Amino acid sequence: MNTNFSEKELNPLGNLDEWEDDVISRYPEPGTKQKEDYRNYVDSDRVATVKRFYELNHTYQTYDFVVEKEREFLKFDKRQMSIWDAVDFLNTLVDDSDPDTDLDQFQHLLQTSEAIRQDGHPDWFVLTGFMHDLGKVLCLFGEPQWAVVGDTFPVGCKHSDKIVYSEYFEANPDSKDPRYNTKYGVYEPNCGLDKVKMSWGHDEYIYQIMKNYIPEEGLYMLRYHSFYPQHRENAYDHLMSKHDHEMFKWVDKFNPYDLYSKVPVPPDAKTLRPYYEDLVAKYLPNVLNF
Ligand SMILES: [Fe+2]
Ligand SMILES: [Fe+2]
Repeated sequence: MNTNFSEKELNPLGNLDEWEDDVISRYPEPGTKQKEDYRNYVDSDRVATVKRFYELNHTYQTYDFVVEKEREFLKFDKRQMSIWDAVDFLNTLVDDSDPDTDLDQFQHLLQTSEAIRQDGHPDWFVLTGFMHDLGKVLCLFGEPQWAVVGDTFPVGCKHSDKIVYSEYFEANPDSKDPRYNTKYGVYEPNCGLDKVKMSWGHDEYIYQIMKNYIPEEGLYMLRYHSFYPQHRENAYDHLMSKHDHEMFKWVDKFNPYDLYSKVPVPPDAKTLRPYYEDLVAKYLPNVLNF
């Protein structure tokens, strides 16, 4: 399907961080003045870029699109990698942003996990932080950016108007399809998120890769960390079970580490590596199928 899209449609963003920077500007850290780096946003070019990104995401992430992507990627026949291979692979993502202010993907993972570790959380939580964005390797398999990152949302039922730039769902065929455009769509009230298909991206992918290896609380963090319409806006309570609500306390706990752990001094990857090698070896097999 990718051949149907132009290069500009596949990669509307200069780099994947432009989406995360936009999320941070939408949900600034409580009690702090917004940091300058996050506020290059007066720059209307970047606003236009992010809007174009969401337009593509909201237009093409249909129920059928998700079914197709699951079929394609949940076979895990793309590549066998250790976590370290995956980290190195992810770091080959070309980043055309300012090298002085932006961290590479590995550094973002380490900052997230180190902030979790410094707060004394259990080691599986640290590991979850370390792994949470590895699903972005999807980009390196040629996937469009809008099918890798972006706020996620349920497909197969009405799009909430609490989803950022929800007006762009106008162009999504599902919003005209009576199977999919009612409050519950193909789902039952409070059926539980495990039964709900989410827009396709790096969250679901890494969840599926990790699902046998870490505690359920960590799995929720991986699977729903970009589900801002719920963990920030509570827009889909009507699909969630009691158990989901319990588990979302952990998603909420995780989110600030993802968004607000960026510090100006990059983590010392070399010194930290032995700790993470042990941690990865404790929970994960040597090689994982992507
Ligand atoms: Fe992420
Ligand atoms: Fe992240």
